[in-house]
Amino acid sequence: MSGKLIDGRKVAELLRAEVREDVEAWVAAGNRPPFLQVVQVGADPGSTTYIGAKTRACRDVGIDSATERLPDTISARELRNAVLRHNENDQVDGILVQLPLPGHLSSHAVIESIDYRKDVDGFHPMNVGRLSLDQPTFRSCTPAGIFELFKHYSIPVKSRHAVVVGASNIVGSPMATMLSRENTSGKATTTICHKFTKDLTQHTISADILVVAAGQPNLIRGEMVKEGVVVIDVGINRIADDTEDRGYRLVGDCHFESVREKASWITPVPGGVGPMTVAMLMKNTLLAAKGSIYPKPE
Ligand code: GUN
Repeated sequence: MSGKLIDGRKVAELLRAEVREDVEAWVAAGNRPPFLQVVQVGADPGSTTYIGAKTRACRDVGIDSATERLPDTISARELRNAVLRHNENDQVDGILVQLPLPGHLSSHAVIESIDYRKDVDGFHPMNVGRLSLDQPTFRSCTPAGIFELFKHYSIPVKSRHAVVVGASNIVGSPMATMLSRENTSGKATTTICHKFTKDLTQHTISADILVVAAGQPNLIRGEMVKEGVVVIDVGINRIADDTEDRGYRLVGDCHFESVREKASWITPVPGGVGPMTVAMLMKNTLLAAKGSIYPKPE
């Protein structure tokens, strides 16, 4: 078998078109366009690239955005004050503090300082808690985007064995929650593997759906998965490559060729999950503007 490619670029474009239409209708009804406030601390090149993709996507769908760039020497108190100003500004619908933060700052403290009603990343404990309780919430963008891929390609999830490799707060953990809960459309039997898992293959080999978000190139190889598996590779790793103008190429966490041989469906890197994350951020920002999850005060 050679797995069929899951085209995240195409599905993200369809989703963005839906959001664009909804934004147009929202504005035509007399509302101001949704507004996303991005906060970048320091100048990490990866973060700058991701923020560029997010603000371009905003422009594409009619969402206004601004990026506040703060020095990497900023104190926790000053950063908190910056976030609180955006919380209080009723022209701001969504707030996104790009991670990772410089080492002296606690991402937990910063995320908790964001008004959960503006937390379009879905990282605030209120939103994570509501997800765990299977209640409507801002869902973390990457896992929510993966569910859109399952829907688009009619890939069944219910009652199957889903294995998530990686337990980060951004992807692995909310992905496992969504897979296992009922309202959030998973209903899968779910296993979470992480760096303390003893025999990774023992788990991955029985996966019907394998989501890999470990940040380790070539972690999963063909012999570790079963025939017909659906593979979602969330990894984005830079590998030095002199044949590329920019000096590197992007690879996922799977050894693509050998895993594809076994898979029924597989996401490429790049062009798989990445564009979906950005598209779901657009969707969450629109939901925030409309007060769809947490009604806006009159
Ligand atoms: N860093 C890596 N992924 C993300 C994300 O989805 N949101 C934010 N805020 N930072 C990130």
